[in-house]
Amino acid sequence: MNIAVLGAQWGDEGKGKIVDLLTPHFSLVARYQGGHNAGHTVYVEGRKFVLHLIPSGILHAGVRCLIGNGVVIDPEALFREVDELAAFGIEVGDRLVISDKAHLILPYHRELDVLSEARRGERKIGTTSRGIGPAYEDKIGRRGIRVCDLVDTPELAEAVRENVHARNQIIRDTRMDWQAVYEQLLAYGDRMRRWTADVSLLLDDAVRRGERVLIEGAQGTMLDIDHGTYPYVTSSNASIGGACTGLGIPPQAIHGVLGVAKAYLTRVGEGPLPTELHGAVGERLRETGQEYGASTGRPRRCGWFDAVAVRYAVRVNGINALALTKMDVLDGLPTVDICTGYSMGERTLDALPAEARTLAACTPVYESWPGWSQPTRGVTRFDDLPVEARRYVARLEEVTGVPMAIISTGSDRAETIIRRDTVAGHWFS
Ligand code: IMP
Repeated sequence: MNIAVLGAQWGDEGKGKIVDLLTPHFSLVARYQGGHNAGHTVYVEGRKFVLHLIPSGILHAGVRCLIGNGVVIDPEALFREVDELAAFGIEVGDRLVISDKAHLILPYHRELDVLSEARRGERKIGTTSRGIGPAYEDKIGRRGIRVCDLVDTPELAEAVRENVHARNQIIRDTRMDWQAVYEQLLAYGDRMRRWTADVSLLLDDAVRRGERVLIEGAQGTMLDIDHGTYPYVTSSNASIGGACTGLGIPPQAIHGVLGVAKAYLTRVGEGPLPTELHGAVGERLRETGQEYGASTGRPRRCGWFDAVAVRYAVRVNGINALALTKMDVLDGLPTVDICTGYSMGERTLDALPAEARTLAACTPVYESWPGWSQPTRGVTRFDDLPVEARRYVARLEEVTGVPMAIISTGSDRAETIIRRDTVAGHWFS
């Protein structure tokens, strides 16, 4: 049984912890899109690991971690991560597999990302400045350089020459030398070669042998290039379609979809966020939840749980069950609100509009629920949650239409409620 884990909000939902929790039941973990814009934080026995590119499954001995063709790879970031893991005593060895079809993020992509943001001025996206958008632009523009291209050939030399020339036309004050970039790419290729393979074929073989694959998404559905709050999105398909195209697997190979959502919500970067809280409650969520970007350190915008957005993610992705994270961050609040619809003048919308400007003009329609004073932190059984917290979860299940199969009550692996009586119960055995 292969399960996909993906974000049902604007990213940073806590997918890293959930993937880490599920990994012991799988032999392969496969990441399908995004790049080192992601930051998955995992705490193991009090030690904090922040992984950007390599699936957090690498922290489990014997598990193989795959990076699919849909991911864009900055070789420097990849090597840094491999070296940091080694410093912690974790050798990736042959447990890491990188698709030969994955595209590369090169130094000029980072520069172009920063430049493009500066040019947008007021309309900037608030990207992570990692070169993600420009790398995907080259991929779609059919001039990208892939992992399999990193060999000394006239084709690679020509592609690098053309790409660096195009970059030099845009950034005129610092000219880049294409030959230096070419040499650098060959060196990258030498180091990456041992990990490179046909990930689609490898997955097909593994599935035929009955091995279980955990499919991992980055960012979240509301940041999806097609289904998110365009243009305030990332440049890849974070939603379920990205799993098929980004790994080279058919839809039949995905047997269940676990969405991950925070018990409230956050967003980092620009773009509409109807339930954003600007006052003391928002500040409190940020401080209690330590809501600062794992990749960039930027403060995250915080708001109440938006059931319209999560319901949308449930529909677009076919989510069977949700993992609700950071429940403990709501401890002690007198009331907790849930947005169940958007009001637009006379009308009430119960689905996400296509245009970011319409979403920005919406006013959330809230239900207010009593909070709980008894802490949920570290609770491992649903029945041990305060009654108000149980009621809140039950209401979230009603308004999103799916069960909350996992409830996370703290950052450690152990601080988790797993509800085996839900549809997702057998995914954990
Ligand atoms: P980019 O992916 O760097 O191009 O950034 C585009 C948008 O996606 C920005 O609003 C970023 O803040 C957001 N973003 C990208 N990666 C993540 C992530 O892992 N978590 C949350 N937001 C992200």
